[in-house]
Amino acid sequence: MPALKVCSTLVLLYVLYCSADEIKLKHKPTLKPVRLFTDEDLEKYNGHQEGQPIYMAVKGVVFDVTKGKEFYGIDAPYNALVGRDSTRAVAKMSLDPEDLTHDTTGLTEEQLQSLESVFSGTYKAKYPIVGYMYRRILNEDGSPNKDFQPEDQPQFSIRDEF
Ligand code: HEM
Repeated sequence: MPALKVCSTLVLLYVLYCSADEIKLKHKPTLKPVRLFTDEDLEKYNGHQEGQPIYMAVKGVVFDVTKGKEFYGIDAPYNALVGRDSTRAVAKMSLDPEDLTHDTTGLTEEQLQSLESVFSGTYKAKYPIVGYMYRRILNEDGSPNKDFQPEDQPQFSIRDEF
């Protein structure tokens, strides 16, 4: 499986390289590999380990929220949201343990709109993307999701994400 992961990473990097021809970069891009997260991987970045960055996923996109330590650190008000995909909690602005999940089943139109606005206006605007949850990159049978598209970030060039 590691070989498969390396292969799909190289293919993705090649596709990004080809499609990035027209982007004028002001600096030399660093080609970091795509990081795919399982739930267990993400749990390690819940702010409880000294010296580790703090990560949180929204809509299957993993953000490095370390610079928001005052929100997400160990004794901070939103620590429950980190180390996991908290899409539902963000959509509902809820810290109820049952909302600390990626599952969006049954959310109202208003909650889905609120999710989009916090996803773009806060997370994408403020925090760098460090990877994607496996649910977003792979199909249920483990094969690569051909529709996967990395997110654009306003203040990052697309190749900075990898
Ligand atoms: C009494 C209730 C609450 C108050 C008074 C409150 C207050 C605040 C304040 C002052 C900010 C900072 C805004 C800024 O400076 O950018 C903030 C950000 C935020 N709040 Fe709340 N909040 C409350 C409840 C909640 C709940 C229940 C959630 C559940 C998800 C939540 C999620 C967030 C998020 C995700 C941010 C953005 C943090 C970031 O910038 O990374 N809040 N809130």
